[in-house]
Amino acid sequence: MWLCAETAVLLLLLHGITIHALVDPLTAVASSLTVAGVSLLYKPIYCQFSECCDSKWLHTTAPNLRHSLETNVFGQHLAIDTVVKSINSHFKSKPSKALALSFQGWTGTGKNLVARLIAESLYENKAESGFVHWFSATRHFSRPEKKRYYQDQIRDWIEGNLTLCPNQLFIFDEIEKMPEGVLDALKPFVDFTVPVKGVEYRKAIYILLGNAGSKYLFDKTYQHFRSGGKRQDLRLRDTEATLWKESYYEQGGLRNSSLIKSHLISAHIPFLPLERSHVISCIHNEINSKNYSVSSHLTEITNQVLAELTFTPANELIYSTTGCKRVYEKVNLVIEDYAEE
Ligand SMILES: *[C@@H]1O[C@H](CO)[C@@H](O)[C@H](O)[C@H]1NC(C)=O
Ligand SMILES: *[C@@H]1O[C@H](CO)[C@@H](O)[C@H](O)[C@H]1NC(C)=O
Ligand SMILES: *[C@@H]1O[C@H](CO)[C@@H](O)[C@H](O)[C@H]1NC(C)=O
Repeated sequence: MWLCAETAVLLLLLHGITIHALVDPLTAVASSLTVAGVSLLYKPIYCQFSECCDSKWLHTTAPNLRHSLETNVFGQHLAIDTVVKSINSHFKSKPSKALALSFQGWTGTGKNLVARLIAESLYENKAESGFVHWFSATRHFSRPEKKRYYQDQIRDWIEGNLTLCPNQLFIFDEIEKMPEGVLDALKPFVDFTVPVKGVEYRKAIYILLGNAGSKYLFDKTYQHFRSGGKRQDLRLRDTEATLWKESYYEQGGLRNSSLIKSHLISAHIPFLPLERSHVISCIHNEINSKNYSVSSHLTEITNQVLAELTFTPANELIYSTTGCKRVYEKVNLVIEDYAEE
């Protein structure tokens, strides 16, 4: 890398950059690149050690996505299947429009986790990539009276970033807490079918995380279970129309939204309530990722964590009301007790 940086400095010097560039070659290279724009001459060197819009940093297929979802996300066969198919087909051919996915379900059912695993599979720098934009309603868009301002901001951010690189991932979290209408700012970007003023909008991916329809998903999953059906037999088409409707009518960021009305969301993906066995898988997954030799206490640790969770319905206690949320922190606390022995 230093060899590269030195070469870069030489090239910069040849191009008449002042001698102070030698003081701190890396910073100098980086900042002159930012100021001058990435010229053809320096780009290959710069992009060796800093994230660029090229195949070293962007993955144009996600070969490990299914495996990574199946080993980390439990009880969500519909979500895993739909996400993998949607992402793969988005990359297979030249996309005809941007991909917009709506993840819907209770808290703790894996919506954030799946979004993060998608980011990890698409970028060399994983979720830390500068091409991954994570917005949360309560942090970025909390005040209803600032709706217009938020919309302008979203437009500027998307346009600015897509001008730099078309392969970006935008994640909007807690959309049920977003002021109604803010997300309408996304409509043109999801709708563009040709580049506008040279900007390619179709390669972007938008993921919306929210809880619209989670009561419906609970009832549906529970009824299916009560009538003896296998969870694996629930189909996407069983839930899609209702999830679409609930997004449109329930309180929150997509209510009355033109995104929904014009059917611009590629899929409404259900995150089903998690059963005890799925939570146990989350617990074991977390324990296994540790190096503590606690395997002899696996059952005790698991039971201790389970005891801190609430299950529903009251007389049957089948589903965790908070899914696997905070299971990871709880595991770590409990593990400490055993690791110290
Ligand atoms: C890209 O998006 C981020 C928000 O994630 C924003 O802060 C930044 O200004 C955007 N960049 C451009 C060039 O618009
Ligand atoms: C949607 O907006 C229209 C007009 O702006 C309004 O009449 C209607 O009640 C709204 N519907 C919902 C579900 O909020
Ligand atoms: C766990 O152990 C492996 C090999 O025994 C080691 O490479 C790794 O760095 C350790 N991880 C942590 C978090 O201690």
